[in-house]
Amino acid sequence: TGGFITLDPGYKNTGSCESAITFLDGEKGILRYCGYSIEELAEKADFLEVAFLLIFGELPTKEELDKFHEDIKKNSIVDEDVKKILDAFPKAAHPMGVLSSLTSALTAFNPTSVNVDSEEEMYNSVVRILGKFPVLVAWTMRKKSGLPLDYGDKNLGYVENILKMMFKSPNEEYSQNPILVNALDKLLILHADHEQNCSTSTVRIVGSSHAGLFASLSAGISALWGPLHGGANQAVLEMLEAIKEDGGDTKKYMAKAKDKSDPFRLMGFGHRVYKNFDPRARIIKVAADEVLGDLGIEDPILDIAKSLEQEALNDEYFVKRKLYPNVDFYSGIIYRGMGIPTDMFTVMFALGRLPGWISQWREMRLRKEPIGRPRQLYIGERERKFVPINKR
Ligand code: SDX
Repeated sequence: TGGFITLDPGYKNTGSCESAITFLDGEKGILRYCGYSIEELAEKADFLEVAFLLIFGELPTKEELDKFHEDIKKNSIVDEDVKKILDAFPKAAHPMGVLSSLTSALTAFNPTSVNVDSEEEMYNSVVRILGKFPVLVAWTMRKKSGLPLDYGDKNLGYVENILKMMFKSPNEEYSQNPILVNALDKLLILHADHEQNCSTSTVRIVGSSHAGLFASLSAGISALWGPLHGGANQAVLEMLEAIKEDGGDTKKYMAKAKDKSDPFRLMGFGHRVYKNFDPRARIIKVAADEVLGDLGIEDPILDIAKSLEQEALNDEYFVKRKLYPNVDFYSGIIYRGMGIPTDMFTVMFALGRLPGWISQWREMRLRKEPIGRPRQLYIGERERKFVPINKR
């Protein structure tokens, strides 16, 4: 049909859009949200402030942030019928599948399609999802352990209340421990956006057909679930557990990771963009030491992770391929130290990435991006005539 098509599997060398939200430099290991370094934001901001920054492009004033939080609280009630959908899932259902379904179901309970050109409608849609999503996250977790579902306490901070909804009973005071609150706040900031990764590109391409925000987010959750992407934080812990059960024999797993005939990969290592240390992994590694230390937890898994990291950083196969620990390598160790079940780790990643997905979806719609529709190189059969079944 004229013109030429360049094949680029996984879009390794394809820019899908122009964006003003997040800047990555993979060689230098730089990550900035709207120009602010991740190091500064993780240290000095809180998660709701960063969510505001990503979605609206500027750090909020105190009044703006207080109003944002109030509006989110007013929009945090989830229709009681959503609990019937939750009840229909078997306890063994993976929380990412439950969360993706419940997020898609929000469309049924909030049918208003968003006119993105209306600041007010877009703002209302943003506070609605930022209000309801943490409730779905908490309910998904509590349903698995048969614990009562509730809304926590409106007088608490955004992240404090998420912990309260997740751990309310029987660990009332536990959930308000400032060590947990600060750790979760920092982890959510570090996961908040990451330019055109697999799940964000999914949110953008689904939204490019003008499907609704909740439907686009639901698709993003499904993409994040994969073990090569956000599902890696759960896969890292399962790998570290396996190494621990195997007597801590990290050399055996390093060999498996380098054996081309073995599909095993060292989970939590490597990155499409970072060919240097993932700046988030650097911050999370320090936080893991602090959180476990503050909680008085001696977790052998952390020691195994550190020795695996040391081995990989000195291994020719990994060094040659520039495979460094990524955001998923240490995050699960903190979640585990906080008492979050392993199959909820990727749900926590989704909770952090939510503002990024919303922001990227909004930018794609405001810039009136065309519907995503890549081409292909056809390698199938040439034209052939139909053969009646009695002649096949
Ligand atoms: C996230 O994109 C993002 O920004 C994602 C993310 C975000 O914030 O949204 O940062 C979050 O998803 C982090 C990545 C989490 N995934 C994992 O930890 C899973 C393990 N890592 C990989 O599977 C892999 O490194 C990817 C998926 C992260 C990146 O894959 P690429 O860029 O497609 O690289 P590749 O598969 O082509 O690998 C290049 C080479 C290959 O060897 P050769 O064929 O050149 O001999 O490196 C090898 C691979 O076999 N390799 C690994 C490896 N990762 C790559 N070998 C062993 N263990 C690994 N982890």
